Amino acid sequence: MAKNINHPKRHPSVIRTLPALKRTIAEIQARHRTIALVPTMGALHAGHLALVRTAQRRADRIIVSIFVNPTQFAPGEDLRTYPRTFATDLAALAALKTDFVWSPDVKTMYPQGFATRIVPEGPATAGLEDRFRPHFFAGVATVVAKLLIQCEPDVAVFGEKDYQQLKVVTQLARDLGLKTRIAGVPVVREADGLAMSSRNRYLSQSERQAAPALYRALRDAAAKIAADAPVADVLKKGLAAIASAGFAVDYFEARHAETLEPIASRQDGPIRLLVAARIGKTRLIDNVAA
Ligand code: PAJ
Repeated sequence: MAKNINHPKRHPSVIRTLPALKRTIAEIQARHRTIALVPTMGALHAGHLALVRTAQRRADRIIVSIFVNPTQFAPGEDLRTYPRTFATDLAALAALKTDFVWSPDVKTMYPQGFATRIVPEGPATAGLEDRFRPHFFAGVATVVAKLLIQCEPDVAVFGEKDYQQLKVVTQLARDLGLKTRIAGVPVVREADGLAMSSRNRYLSQSERQAAPALYRALRDAAAKIAADAPVADVLKKGLAAIASAGFAVDYFEARHAETLEPIASRQDGPIRLLVAARIGKTRLIDNVAA
């Protein structure tokens, strides 16, 4: 029979309960197929889809988790209004031939009486995101540990967009002795340089126009540091540029790309420049290698 190359896109199968997930994992393992997990909170964009493509190159079966994790939001943050676009997410994943979507509800992930929290140290206490969102990495570490234990992936894929998170998760997998390898994917950007983010949809038109200033400042700073300008001066000028575009800056820092320790010069190791800044009600983060 001729192969039908125009077959309709098949939606991934959506798994909502732990017994169904366990059955699926057992079946995949019985066939000696490898598993890649891509953890997300949904509202998928091209950045997430780049992670899925990397996952496809790294394993036989792809699980994308979609779970808006309440424990990584502080009271007053955007848990209630976080964009939820499940139907369009599924359609996007169907186009990429994702095998499974693991989408538990909150009670499945955190049943009544749940009382354990993983509180990461090391990169999680570097004084970047943790300084402004002190609850955040315990929430992330706890849910990511649960996802890795539930899905038993050979590889789990995370974006460099959340650079500190990538380091925290890498440390977590190592410290807990999990078999999962953690893979990082470069930041995917809009044409004007703005890092893609589910939260970009909160931006008003004028905020959206101002937003690429973040990436411009990072790139300018990286170029100056590559030309051996003093790091402290470069950061000061970059911070001023971001502020004059209308942002309130949480941090704009140069850190060792691996340890996230403060770093004063290129001679001391590879540098990563990281920024977090608020415009209107929206908080954006971004980073580049310098
Ligand atoms: P979420 O913000 O949905 O992001 C899911 C993954 O997509 C993360 O690894 C993130 O770094 C990556 N990502 C987001 N935007 C990206 C971009 N523009 N380029 C490349 N990668 C990008 O991060 C989380 O969810 C959560 O904290 C989670 C890890 C799922 C735990 O709840």
